[in-house]
Amino acid sequence: MKNTDIEKNLSKNNAGIAVRDGFTGGLGVILATLGSAVGLGNIWKFPYLTGVNGGAAFLIVYLLSTLLVGLPVMISEHMLGRKAKAEAISTFLKLNPNKKQPWWLIGVFGVVAAFMIMAFYTEVAGWVFAYVIKSLGNGIFSTDPAVTGAAFGSMISNPWISLGIQWAVLALVGFIILQGVAKGIERTAKRVMPVLFALLIIVVIRSLTLEGALEGLKFLFMPDFSKLTGAAILTAMGLAFFKLSIGMGTMITYGSYFGDDQNIPMNATKVMLGDLVVSLLAGMAIFPAVFAYGVEPDAGPSLLFITIPTVFASMPFGHFFMVIFFLLTSLAAIGAMLSLIEVPVAFLSEHYRMTRNKATIVIVGLLAAVGSLAALSSNVLAEAKLFGKTFFDLFDFLSSNVLLPVGGLFIVLFVSWVIGWNKVEKALTNNGTLKNVKLVKFYFNVTRYVTPILVLVVLLNGFGVFG
Ligand code: PFF
Repeated sequence: MKNTDIEKNLSKNNAGIAVRDGFTGGLGVILATLGSAVGLGNIWKFPYLTGVNGGAAFLIVYLLSTLLVGLPVMISEHMLGRKAKAEAISTFLKLNPNKKQPWWLIGVFGVVAAFMIMAFYTEVAGWVFAYVIKSLGNGIFSTDPAVTGAAFGSMISNPWISLGIQWAVLALVGFIILQGVAKGIERTAKRVMPVLFALLIIVVIRSLTLEGALEGLKFLFMPDFSKLTGAAILTAMGLAFFKLSIGMGTMITYGSYFGDDQNIPMNATKVMLGDLVVSLLAGMAIFPAVFAYGVEPDAGPSLLFITIPTVFASMPFGHFFMVIFFLLTSLAAIGAMLSLIEVPVAFLSEHYRMTRNKATIVIVGLLAAVGSLAALSSNVLAEAKLFGKTFFDLFDFLSSNVLLPVGGLFIVLFVSWVIGWNKVEKALTNNGTLKNVKLVKFYFNVTRYVTPILVLVVLLNGFGVFG
């Protein structure tokens, strides 16, 4: 490869010297990382899974998974990425002292997971984008679920519309990714996140001030543990992985864009809390309204597209709030998709030294192909099933409930048993400049003993190994 090609992947610093692209500072780090975590997971998945799995009890298991599994894995990933200053697969190749052990496979699984998630994620994002436009008219504005159901059905049963909206989403994401890490990902996050937050607060206030809102809050916050099954616990943990974008190299790749002065444990904690706040706000926007109008919260994935519009159509000024709601959901999806696509793009451009432009075009093309399997799952491929699931459901299930937890398990094993305490201490105290050794030691012990055992038990339990 020619030198000019390598240089195209680097940006210039103030002195005109070529440096690896990265986030520009503390705010950029937090907002870009939070932008990855916040997404359809908060506004589509979290509410529908909580709705299906009985509310507060599921929320509590999800909270525990976030604290005991999610946060340690996120800190581990940021640390690995920043230490190696490389994309996910190269990170393991660089940091593994024993070259015979194939730890780099974690990175490979990560790239596979990114493809699977993008395949269905871009489709759901496409529905949301289409709903922003539809919500301006009257087509989905009805209190009758038969009407909103038919509107949703006619969209997803049309293969050309399904493919078209997915490709439009991919084109948008590809366009932003082409601009680079600081000018593309970080700049978008800085613009989108405050708006998203403000819009969400508006919808929450509307929902909480409806008569009968209290029932929704009870559903979300008063646990009934009798509803909890082994499968639901695995789902809650899978959700924690999916939510925090961990277990697949996204956070390793983002960590590689952090400056050496960043306080990794502190940043990860802020992102975890910020993401949790957005999920809880989404729950407080949805459940009070759903209960206020006597609608069942257990519709599953169609909750957002069939149930929610009927709820908006029932409330005063509902049309206005419905537009805002779908707008904020589409904004949320963007940052998450940028981080998903960045994993394979960074891999191609760094590992194979492709230009960022070429890598982006190759990956967008591949994603359009793999993604079409998910886009066509509700029409021409509806009967094509593997293990009883359509491609859409299979990609969703395999990524959240298998690949991400397994990836996370090996990531914490790699950090605590292969990298080891001495290097971890140096990396997370920024060579002793941060006075957080006790905290880092605590994190290390959790990562070494608690997280891997929990993930393993929940995985096996979810697959019914304990009967
Ligand atoms: N965290 C995103 C969400 O909750 O919508 C989804 C996601 C993004 C998952 C990036 C995995 C990932 F690597």
